[in-house]
Amino acid sequence: MGEKAEKETQILGIESSCDETAAAVVVDGRRILSSVVASQIDIHRKYGGVVPELASREHLRQIVPVVRKAMEQAGLVLPALDAIAVTQGPGLVGSLLVGITYGKTLATALNKPLIGVNHLEGHIHAAFLEAHQHGEVPKLPAVCLIVSGGHTVLYQVKVDDASQNEAFAYRKLGQTRDDAAGEAYDKVAKLLGMGYPGGPILDQLAAATGCAAPPTKFGPTKTRGNALDFSFSGLKTAVLYHVREHPEYNQEIHRRELALREGHKKFEELLTLCSAQTLGLVREFQNAVVRDLVERTMKAVEECGVETILVSGGVAANSQLRATFEARASGAGLKIYFPSRALCTDNAAMIAAAAYSRFERGLFADLTLNATANMPLA
Ligand code: KG4
Ligand code: ZN
Repeated sequence: MGEKAEKETQILGIESSCDETAAAVVVDGRRILSSVVASQIDIHRKYGGVVPELASREHLRQIVPVVRKAMEQAGLVLPALDAIAVTQGPGLVGSLLVGITYGKTLATALNKPLIGVNHLEGHIHAAFLEAHQHGEVPKLPAVCLIVSGGHTVLYQVKVDDASQNEAFAYRKLGQTRDDAAGEAYDKVAKLLGMGYPGGPILDQLAAATGCAAPPTKFGPTKTRGNALDFSFSGLKTAVLYHVREHPEYNQEIHRRELALREGHKKFEELLTLCSAQTLGLVREFQNAVVRDLVERTMKAVEECGVETILVSGGVAANSQLRATFEARASGAGLKIYFPSRALCTDNAAMIAAAAYSRFERGLFADLTLNATANMPLA
């Protein structure tokens, strides 16, 4: 078993806010000893989205083996931990409760501190965690875009002046008024017969478009009021109307749905069932999503006068989004940080990392800790 160096803090993180059961051990909020994620995608696939009741049931099934595996991979026994961190919210209450109840039980049995973590703060820490793996520390203040299946939100992140322990302070700059960007990916993929989740497959298809012309154009989304707010439901509806008005899509959508039902869900299999018109449509949809995400983030950067951009959450794995952001940031002399793909999507290493500064400040939870479905970060 691994020997712990003097004063190192080993935190077990537990994440169960949506459809991933995850556990990880992180040292001093920076060094990942293990990170285990059990995805429920196969269970929710046939419904085209996360079914909360099924998610809770699967978390119950997975939580014990996932934590055990995380401890094994870290080479640690439970008493060697310094604290247990759990996602408190936002998320699905039934799912959150599984992680919280297990975390409380472990903390009580081991007589270790329990730390409640905001899932969004976890996503922000994922960008720092990735940078730490490469010996870098993102400079604050920064603008952070969290973009996933459940969230699309912009924060300003700075050092909390009141704290001497590298704690961050957050200010919300804008958020989606309706669907999250990942949700738009998932819904558009469903209506085009591309399976679930939609992001990864549409990302690959958009990259394979070649010189196929877009069959329609989607303009920039305008939102009244806060210019840093997002809106994606109009774009999703525009794709739906375009498809309805063009019956030539129907046959290939039907063919793809049949293929998916037979288990042919791989990119190469679906690509052969896509016309150039469909590929052009997918690309145009992605262009519109990427443009809105990048433009609003750059506007926030300008307004806040920061030099650092952090992008995190499942959609931050998107190749076109990453490439566009990289180009814009380097053109403007800004530093940009993305987590690796594994740290972009939901994981527990980010929860253990976010818990570290709370540990340092002695911000522990007691057994009244409860799931908070709409937990704000700022
Ligand atoms: O962060 P995450 O694992 O869970 C939430 O908190 O929502 O994000 C999952 C979302 C899904 O909507 C999925 O379609 C999207 O992230 N996603 C992507 C890509 N990979 C995952 N969206 C666009 N491009 C991708 N490559
Ligand atoms: Zn998430």
